[in-house]
Amino acid sequence: MTRPAVLVARAAFPDIVDRLRAHFEVEDNPADRIFTKAELSAKLAGKAGAFITGSERIDAEVLDANPQLRAVCNMAVGYNNIDVDACNARGVLATNTPDVLTETTADFGFALMMATARRIAEGEHFLRRGEWTKWAYDMFAGSDVHGATLGILGMGRIGQAVAKRGALGFGMKVIYHNRSRLAPELEAPIGARYVSKEALLRESDHLVIVVPYSPASHHAIAAAELALMKPTATLTNIARGGVVDDAALAAALRERRIAAAGLDVFEGEPKVHPDLLSVPNVVLTPHIASATVATRRAMASLAVDNLIAALTGAVPPTPVNPQVLPLKR
Ligand code: DGY
Repeated sequence: MTRPAVLVARAAFPDIVDRLRAHFEVEDNPADRIFTKAELSAKLAGKAGAFITGSERIDAEVLDANPQLRAVCNMAVGYNNIDVDACNARGVLATNTPDVLTETTADFGFALMMATARRIAEGEHFLRRGEWTKWAYDMFAGSDVHGATLGILGMGRIGQAVAKRGALGFGMKVIYHNRSRLAPELEAPIGARYVSKEALLRESDHLVIVVPYSPASHHAIAAAELALMKPTATLTNIARGGVVDDAALAAALRERRIAAAGLDVFEGEPKVHPDLLSVPNVVLTPHIASATVATRRAMASLAVDNLIAALTGAVPPTPVNPQVLPLKR
């Protein structure tokens, strides 16, 4: 019997990808070139499943060009690169990698927020430029994190993990806005207070964005929202590019309408809005919030587990659209 074929669309830990070879014919991409949409469609020809990352967009056109495709398994918790409705309509399973990256991503979000509030990158660049000649009372004076008001937009698993760090580790007051309010037993241990989006923007000293990207969250933070924030506030985005209007944010930073920003994700990344590159009061990192070796291995492993389960008739651990199960074809 011929074995199903799968595509591993990006380079990933070879020892983890190798687990697929026990079950499938594997076409991988060790050179890690990002496929154009046409190339991706062509590579998927004859494949029953795919291991993908956020750089592969799976939409109706790609699915229609590949009616044999049964499962697309993302190595990411966010799945805005997959048109889930189009998958549902065609009975294609989509999976993601929740939970395994929650704490690591929250660590990074907190680190980025602290680096932003305490102006660590600005200070480091100044030192490297050889401009440090004396101590000064106001040199890179930022704002306190401990005891400040931490605002979370998007109180899912990662938002709650950031909030826990702030409340329990740094004595921060936690306010949040989310589609739905948390259960009291989740709010109570961290003293989290549910507020309107407007109150969140007005009251936060440090706003951390953790809301998933969707058409509904596109530019959830744009000029009007930034205008509500305190001039001393910081904004940290570890969610997705597109949730924040980067041009509006760059203008607010340049005009010091907010104090600083920490950004791990960007609209149109890996391109970064040129205005963000030229303002000093922003800490920029290249989408690495989940990037520890242990967590990236766990993500790859979960994506592989999902793909194996999906194509061998088992129940995948983390389906996005379980309603398409069991896979018919
Ligand atoms: C995710 O998991 O969605 C991250 O953004 C990718 O590291």
